[in-house]
Amino acid sequence: MRNMSGRIPQSFIDDLVNRVDIVEIVDSRVPLKKAGREYTACCPFHNEKTPSFTVSPNKQFYHCFGCGAHGTAVGFLMEYDHMSFPEAIEELARQAGLEVPYEGGGRTTADPDQQKQSQDLYAILERADQFYQQQLRQHPQAQRAIDYLKQRGLSGQIAAEFGIGFAPPGWDNLIRNMGNSDALQEQLVTTGMLIRKDDDRCYDRFRDRIMFPIRDPRGRCIGFGGRILPDGGDNQEKGAKKPAAAQGRASAAGGRKPGAAKYLNSPETPLFHKGRELYGLFEARRALRDIPRLLVVEGYMDVVALAEAGIRYAVATLGTATTGDHLNRLFRLCNEVVFCFDGDRAGREAAWRALENTLPVMQDGRQVRFMFLPDGEDPDTQVKKVGRARFETDIDAAMPFSTFFFERLKEPLNMDSLEGRAQLVSQANPLLAKLPDGVMKQTMKEQLGRFARLQDQNPVRPAPTGARAPHRYPPPARRSRSNTPSRVRYILQRLLHQPALAQQAGDLSRFSKGDVPGLDLLVEVLEILQIHTTLRTGSLIERFRESEKGSHLQKLAAWQPEVDDEASLAEEFTTALNKLEQMCLQQRYDALLAQSNLGQLSQEDEAEYRELFRKLNQDKYKH
Ligand code: UTP
Ligand code: MN
Repeated sequence: MRNMSGRIPQSFIDDLVNRVDIVEIVDSRVPLKKAGREYTACCPFHNEKTPSFTVSPNKQFYHCFGCGAHGTAVGFLMEYDHMSFPEAIEELARQAGLEVPYEGGGRTTADPDQQKQSQDLYAILERADQFYQQQLRQHPQAQRAIDYLKQRGLSGQIAAEFGIGFAPPGWDNLIRNMGNSDALQEQLVTTGMLIRKDDDRCYDRFRDRIMFPIRDPRGRCIGFGGRILPDGGDNQEKGAKKPAAAQGRASAAGGRKPGAAKYLNSPETPLFHKGRELYGLFEARRALRDIPRLLVVEGYMDVVALAEAGIRYAVATLGTATTGDHLNRLFRLCNEVVFCFDGDRAGREAAWRALENTLPVMQDGRQVRFMFLPDGEDPDTQVKKVGRARFETDIDAAMPFSTFFFERLKEPLNMDSLEGRAQLVSQANPLLAKLPDGVMKQTMKEQLGRFARLQDQNPVRPAPTGARAPHRYPPPARRSRSNTPSRVRYILQRLLHQPALAQQAGDLSRFSKGDVPGLDLLVEVLEILQIHTTLRTGSLIERFRESEKGSHLQKLAAWQPEVDDEASLAEEFTTALNKLEQMCLQQRYDALLAQSNLGQLSQEDEAEYRELFRKLNQDKYKH
């Protein structure tokens, strides 16, 4: 294996992303057609008949108007070829004929075989997948598996759609059936299908289990979950009551051989990363043209049973908590995600963990809700009990994100007491701070204010004109400041479309005294672009990878001017920047004015105040 430890220097990534051509990279995987200045194709990330996927050679950025997928060349490789970040960088470097320099040791040699190797790994898993499916039809002992699946209400059609298979009993089925060359064995070990013992001999990881192939978004098998079969005889599993929580799983009842876990999953491998994959996502996309919403459940059998009942939009995390990666992937396909959990304590704990991981990715427009099942039921048993229609009505009635958030925090607190309310505020604030800026965050903060009844306790401070007024209840639909973020957004859109505009932004210190939401990010971006004058949109965005800022910028980068005319773009940009400066000055002036009314101006402030007064009035006459 290559050593990919060590950090890759930012300058190298800048340079690389600037140098490669996203059109070429996408086109070799998804053939593109030229349309004006851009290139288009049917989107590889969702099902569509007319192309809404566009690649911009100027911005070095792709964007789908259908499903909202977007990113740089690096992002495209990560999504489409399923690479990790360093792998994507390696791949791009290879194409550009560069060697990736790793900081802090860990030098690598360029490895042209790498791509080929992972292709081979996919092929291996494909063969294993075929083998297991065939065994479910042919193996002398397969009847036990078939009977069990039937008993759980599974039809042949759904079983086939999900590619459910059977790993026969025995220790060497894969080796005997797939060939036993050293190279092949090595690959089977790498993909997690074989386990190597201390004496170097290998044996099958999955034995006597029902096999659920796990597919990546392109439908390639990347790993498996294997469910143990109940023992024959009187040890039969009866409608298995679901074990309460993850910790209880290994030891949970279920009529299995002592010591064996009910489910065995592929380990982390170069192709399979539990924290990113969702069982059933590929199948949902294949079954549905439009995905109305996605339901996140816990188990393989839940996904399959819901599909059997006609609910085709369920996916399962693979025995891990839901991560931000998971959510970003889900939100690329639809705007609504509903988590489905047990109604018991463990279920509510798991739901809360999911909520915590969701906070940073709750951009406006994304909706998350929580559905709690009756104690002791899982989606599989529940849908069988109440049927599809009722189950879907219950999904409709799932608890909104903010309701669950506050209910859960308030639960142990006495909201009639001052301390209780203060505790709510101190617990909620750091969590709310994780939400991306937007209407949702604002609304929840206002809600918190209401619960805490803070305005009863706090005297109203004198507010300088133009500054934030104390909250009124209910909050007015449009607030005076609500157009402020849109000004920064307006500027960033133009800047991301044409990064060279940064050279016209002048001295950035003119914004230093402002307190406009989003201003910090704008100034940060302008600073970077003024220093690194050759950065293009793609390489700029790469600098913000994995940060909230990055995903915000990616969204803005999808913007297109109605008429792509450089002169008018530049004018819009400069005018908006000047207005923003004006706003910053005005804010500062208002603040100083308020202080001066209280008689609190230092000499220095006084001078600034005069200067600002002069400047603002001068500008007024100019306009
Ligand atoms: P459950 O025990 O709730 O599974 O575990 P289930 O899907 O309801 O199973 P059935 O109905 O008894 O067949 C939920 C998920 O947790 C992971 C699996 O991903 C499973 O689908 N899990 C569970 C494991 O990884 N290992 C285990 O031993 C048990
Ligand atoms: Mn179950």
